[in-house]
Amino acid sequence: MSFQPPPGTDDIGAPQSHIWREVLREWETWADCYGYPLVMTPLFEATDLFERGVGDATEVVTKQMYTFTDKGGRSVTLRHEGTAGVVRAFLNAGVKGAWKGAYSGPMFRYERPQAGRRRQFWQVGVEYLDVEGPAADAEVVELGFRFLNAVEVAGLEVVLNSLGDEVCRPGYVATLRGYLDERRSQLCDESVSLIDSNPLRVLDCKVCAPVLGDAPAMKDHLCAACADHYAGVKASLDRLDVPYTEDGRLVRGLDYYTRTAFEYIATDLATAQNAVGGGGRYDGLAESIGGRRAPGVGFALGIDRIVLSSSRAPSPPVDVFVISETNPSDALVASSVLRSEGLRVDFDTEGRSVKAQFKVASRSAAPARVIVSDSSGPVGVRYGNDNIDLPIGEVAEWLMQRLR
Ligand code: HAM
Repeated sequence: MSFQPPPGTDDIGAPQSHIWREVLREWETWADCYGYPLVMTPLFEATDLFERGVGDATEVVTKQMYTFTDKGGRSVTLRHEGTAGVVRAFLNAGVKGAWKGAYSGPMFRYERPQAGRRRQFWQVGVEYLDVEGPAADAEVVELGFRFLNAVEVAGLEVVLNSLGDEVCRPGYVATLRGYLDERRSQLCDESVSLIDSNPLRVLDCKVCAPVLGDAPAMKDHLCAACADHYAGVKASLDRLDVPYTEDGRLVRGLDYYTRTAFEYIATDLATAQNAVGGGGRYDGLAESIGGRRAPGVGFALGIDRIVLSSSRAPSPPVDVFVISETNPSDALVASSVLRSEGLRVDFDTEGRSVKAQFKVASRSAAPARVIVSDSSGPVGVRYGNDNIDLPIGEVAEWLMQRLR
């Protein structure tokens, strides 16, 4: 029997998991700070939800879904993204008026596995529903930007575009199709096959990019309402000092986007996997899955890629390692006292020699040691060059002043 996880999936334990835990904790702080409460939806949904919501011509729906028939004969699919499920949950709750939700959890896409492109990966994201004004888009873009900065994603850039709406996009798509038609012989087979079904996706093709330098851009074909909205988003981002670059080629891989589309790029990562997040506005999604009109905007960020691109050094997993010169039970009790006062503590349960316990302590990377030499007397505390004997009840306060 092999102990390898399935292709494209990972076992993530210490020390790698320290940085995961810090990034996910940081995420909760930022989502809270912007007023996005937690929303939890199922890991699988009816297949139909993704076909109607995300688009049955998108690569993620045609090639990457984990779909199976359950024992009741229903076709279900492991979620490959969070937006469609959250919008379904919002409609199901029958909420009226502005609504916010933040999520965090695994997603599944049948991809060709490589670094930063996994079959099971972790997304955090937000959805802001029943809102139309550009301030909502700017708030969402800002939240992702501030969080990614806080977790020290190296070489972070925000790329922005507007994809128009049902008024102006059809005209633009016709113009783009004409442009692509004239260049059929210069395009790759995949792009040629998309000219009729989904010409916007051709703009995303890395192979054809050199031929598409002068392709018409959506932002030059926006109707007045979309142009106003886009100008409003940019003006708000300017006032927030969120830097961005505009890219008329940014189209995103999911069909539900209208108006604002954006990506967060970690320019230090290998190009194919350097999008650490993306999002945009999806004013027609709720209707496309059979609900009422509920315009919305949101993003999702890929934690696997964030961890790869973060330059942050994880802090030690515990503050204190307790060493016992008597027996493990004394270390257990001392640890319990220190833990109850808010310190993160570990100790050796196996009754090893003091020398061996010091070795385990070094491996733990805990910055402080507490040495118990009898069950009721003072304990020795070591932190850097400081070395002091204290009653156990005074250790936490003394250490907290130095650790925090
Ligand atoms: P997405 O661009 O498909 O958007 O995914 C968002 C992020 O998830 C990507 O930028 C990337 O960091 C990460 N990601 C995607 N696929 C993989 C993979 N196979 N392995 C590792 N990381 C991956 C969405 O999912 C939309 N639901 C975002 C959204 C929310 N739009 C509006 N609201």
